[in-house]
Amino acid sequence: MARSKIALIGSGMIGGTLAHLVGLKELGDAVLFDIAEGMPKGKALDLSQAGAVEGYDAVLKGTQDYADIAGADVCIVTAGVPRKPGMSRDDLLEINLKVMKAVGEGIKAHAPDAFVICITNPLDAMVWALQKFSGLPTNKVVGMAGVLDSARFKHFLAEEFDVSVEDVTTFVLGGHGDTMVPVVEYSTVAGIPIPDLIKMGWTSQGKIDAIVDRTRKGGGEIVQLLGNGSAYYAPASSAIAMADSYLKDKRRLLPCAAWLTGEYGCDGMYVGVPVIIGEEGVEKVVEIELGGEAQKNFQVSVDAVKELMEACKGLDSSLA
Ligand code: LMR
Repeated sequence: MARSKIALIGSGMIGGTLAHLVGLKELGDAVLFDIAEGMPKGKALDLSQAGAVEGYDAVLKGTQDYADIAGADVCIVTAGVPRKPGMSRDDLLEINLKVMKAVGEGIKAHAPDAFVICITNPLDAMVWALQKFSGLPTNKVVGMAGVLDSARFKHFLAEEFDVSVEDVTTFVLGGHGDTMVPVVEYSTVAGIPIPDLIKMGWTSQGKIDAIVDRTRKGGGEIVQLLGNGSAYYAPASSAIAMADSYLKDKRRLLPCAAWLTGEYGCDGMYVGVPVIIGEEGVEKVVEIELGGEAQKNFQVSVDAVKELMEACKGLDSSLA
């Protein structure tokens, strides 16, 4: 069986972590692309030597040439600038939009059959622009956000209930900004919905509200702590979960920024919703019914994403 080829567009902290996970999880071979000289080659060599300890045989190549991503099965895009303390993700729009244009053109020319996962912020607007710039089918271009946000929600809930993360399920929908919507009604511990756990007295509404707020601001908390850059371990693990579902046709149901054509009342835009990822890419958008408060918050989040899309159109006429 041919080994999968995974192109990592951007070889910073997330790109390096992604390559390490590709090796450790034996997902295939990886190409680390970056415009920075030396860095992708250095990381590829270092990670190849780590393979000699860990026992993985992935071929890892560093490059500055888009031609090297040719034939990639999956492209994971982290290229662009991360935010610094005091900035919002939206402050990155102008600079990262230019990066998405170059990346989209590179993927279009060299890896048009790939499944593309975008991590660059502001996520929902960048994945939309990347799809436009690359011209790839909308079911083959997705944004990594909901998996990360749901993982943060899951971690905080597992801490609160003092149970394994394996027994917690969570859904965070909407845009990947401070308006994201952790859906408490569909989050459970061992199948028991959080509202029922509150009724049982296992936790309080106040504690859950605080966790929801912390989840919404989860990326910013890490940006503040790191001082110079943003999270990379959890974002990398999240994108790998999506790539794994695609490459192995696992059909996992994951919250991702997906292209919507009427679902959830959204048309012609990307926003975080539950989708099934299999060998065809996004195979199904799963429409869950949101309760009054969640529905209202979801709409606020959608409107925030639409505003960013409009801003992109103003910056690049080819998107209008
Ligand atoms: C995250 O949520 O960790 C990323 O979107 C990075 C950021 O700027 O918060």
